Amino acid sequence: MGFDNQSIGNYRANESRYDTIPYRRCGISGLLLPAISVGLWHNFGHADNFTNAREILRTAFDHGITHFDLANNYGPPYGAAEENFGRILEMDFKPYRDELIISSKAGWDMWPGPYGNYGSKKYLIASLDQSLKRMGLDYVDIFYHHRPDPETPLEETMGALHQMVQQGKALYVGVSQYPAALTREAAEILGKMGTKLCIHQPRYSMMDRWVEEGLLDELGRQGTGAIAFSPLEQGILTNKYLQGIPEKSRAIKDGRYLQKDNITLELVEKVRQLDAIAKQRGQSMAQMAIAWLLKDDRITSVLVGVSSPKQMLDNVQTVNNLKFSENELKEIEKILGS
Ligand SMILES: NC(=O)c1ccc[n+]([C@@H]2O[C@H](COP(=O)([O-])OP(=O)(O)OC[C@H]3O[C@@H](n4cnc5c(N)ncnc54)[C@H](OP(=O)(O)O)[C@@H]3O)[C@@H](O)[C@H]2O)c1
Repeated sequence: MGFDNQSIGNYRANESRYDTIPYRRCGISGLLLPAISVGLWHNFGHADNFTNAREILRTAFDHGITHFDLANNYGPPYGAAEENFGRILEMDFKPYRDELIISSKAGWDMWPGPYGNYGSKKYLIASLDQSLKRMGLDYVDIFYHHRPDPETPLEETMGALHQMVQQGKALYVGVSQYPAALTREAAEILGKMGTKLCIHQPRYSMMDRWVEEGLLDELGRQGTGAIAFSPLEQGILTNKYLQGIPEKSRAIKDGRYLQKDNITLELVEKVRQLDAIAKQRGQSMAQMAIAWLLKDDRITSVLVGVSSPKQMLDNVQTVNNLKFSENELKEIEKILGS
């Protein structure tokens, strides 16, 4: 990434930034999140275009997207997204820190040796300190344990989250990728210590609906919010792949997580049928995929990734049509179940 801070001029946030996106309460907490949030997993590494990254975040915030989601190992290389975000924060968003919800996570591999992975107190506490340094922050708004650790006692992992809150290094805490029963246990352990499990970050999209099998009910019972990640199936649930696989796409540029062989003709045909319904609704495919998740009020926010400001704008406009008719829902179910 080149750090040309002159090329797009100084930033002053759009004065009407709070006129577009609705805010939804995160479970029974005091935290309101924008219905659409933006994640920095891809497109914010050192090999990516810094000005583009900066423009994505400006576009998001100008439309009221107050929540930026990071993790210790977003990059590449690991840590790069937090470093680049720290620079953007310094250049553009410093006056707006109190208008932002910035999250980070630890739980996947981050540094070599036995203390840079999973869920020990040793790992989580050190990782948050590193994240704060990379981003130039005193605290994050949300800190997540990024995935379950089958070996560390849950009491230790939750104890680490509780300690972060006690120390003021995280305002709220959450878990990601935890199944329903483990989420309940985690919430109980945290609750006994006096810390609320504020939010869960599960994978959820039209094509990955595991959360409907118990997790959302559990979160509803607990009053824990939910923010859905990879809501567009990394780009499959957009019009991006309808005419083949473009060069400028995650499937070609970065095959680590989205392999082009997984974008089958059958899958594309399903998206084509869904896209026809989106068109009737006056929406893009991406907009309909986001709106479809927001129809459940247990979903606090939909966490999208974007590779350009244009995609950000497209996704923001989802909020112009969040309602589905019974008939549309039935048609969508038919396509998804076929
Ligand atoms: N907790 C976890 O374990 C976990 C795991 C994964 C992700 N996450 C979080 O969730 C965030 C989102 O995940 P994701 O990036 O996989 O989400 P996604 O929203 O499912 O996919 C993002 C990709 O979809 C394409 N796209 C987005 N908007 C579009 C539009 N309007 N039109 C056409 N294409 C569009 C872009 O692909 P191209 O790049 O091809 O243009 C973009 O990079 C991450 O940044 C991260 O914060 C969390």
